[in-house]
Amino acid sequence: MSYSNILFEAYSGIATITINRPSKLNALNKDTINELHLALKEADSNKDIKVIILTGSGEKAFVAGADISEFANFNIEEGTKLAAKGQAVLFDFIENLSTPVIAAVNGFALGGGLELAMACHFRLASDNARLGLPEVSLGLIPGYGGTQRLPQLIGKGRAMEMVMTAGMIDANKALDYGLVNHVVAQEDLMPLCKQIATKILSNSSVAISAAITAVNAVFKAGVNGFDVEIEEFGNSFGTADFKEGTTAFLEKRKADFPGE
Ligand code: COA
Repeated sequence: MSYSNILFEAYSGIATITINRPSKLNALNKDTINELHLALKEADSNKDIKVIILTGSGEKAFVAGADISEFANFNIEEGTKLAAKGQAVLFDFIENLSTPVIAAVNGFALGGGLELAMACHFRLASDNARLGLPEVSLGLIPGYGGTQRLPQLIGKGRAMEMVMTAGMIDANKALDYGLVNHVVAQEDLMPLCKQIATKILSNSSVAISAAITAVNAVFKAGVNGFDVEIEEFGNSFGTADFKEGTTAFLEKRKADFPGE
C-alpha cells in the first residue's frame, strides 16, 4: 500500500513506520492518523512481521502533537468526536495490537505525540527528546488517552504536575520517571530499537501476543487480570509454538517457532 504522510519499510521481521511530515514536526492530522491505522493493520496482519518500530522523520521531532490547525475551529461535538475516533482508530488500536510496537522517540513528543508514544508497548528516546502534554496551554486537556496512560506509567503526582504545568521534560528525566526504557544518542536510537526488536523476534510471537493481552488487562476497568492471565496461560498449551519451545529446550537446541 502507498502512503502520503508516512513511510513504511519492512525488513527481516521488523516493520519501521515513520511519520513523515517534518515541516510540521510530524503533527498528527486526520490523514496521518488514518494512514497509521492502515499501516499498523497491514503490519499486524503480515505473519512475517513480528515487531513494529514507530518513529518520526527528521532529527527534531517524533510528533509535536495533534495538528492544531485542523481543530482550531471545532465545537464541543466535533471535539468529542475527534478524541473518540482518534482513540479508537489509533491509540487504543496500538495498545491492543497483537504485534509489539516500540516507540523510537527521536525528538519532541508533545501532546498527541507523547500520547502516541505512550500507546506503544514501550519507548526508547534519543537524548534530544523533549516530552510533555501542553494541552492546558491551549485551553484543552489531553484527548488521546494522555490523562489515563501518563499516570499509569509515571504515577499520579508526576502526571498531574506535567499536565498542569504543560511543561516539557528531557529524555533523562523521562528515563528517571520510567516513561522511556532507554536513552541514547540520536544516531544510536534506531540501532538499539532494532537490537531489542531482534531479541523479541527470537521468541514465540503467539506467546508475545498473549502476554500483551494479559499485561494490558492490568489497566482494563472491570477486568480481572489474573483471570486473563490464567486463560492466556492455559491457551498457550494448545499452540504449536509451545510444542516447539518445550521440545527444543528438552532437545537442547534453539527453538524455531512456527508462530502458530
Ligand atoms: N500542529 C500543527 N502544526 C504544528 C504543530 C502542531 N501540533 N507543532 C508544530 N507545528 C508546525 C508549526 O506551526 C510550524 O509550521 P510553519 O513553519 O508552517 O509555521 C512548524 O511545525 C515548525 O514548528 P515551529 O513552532 O516553528 O518550531 P519551533 O522549533 O520554533 O518550536 C515546538 C517547536 C514543538 C516547541 C512548537 O512547534 C510547538 O509548541 N508546537 C505545538 C506543540 C503542542 O502544543 N502540541 C499539542 C497539540 S494538542
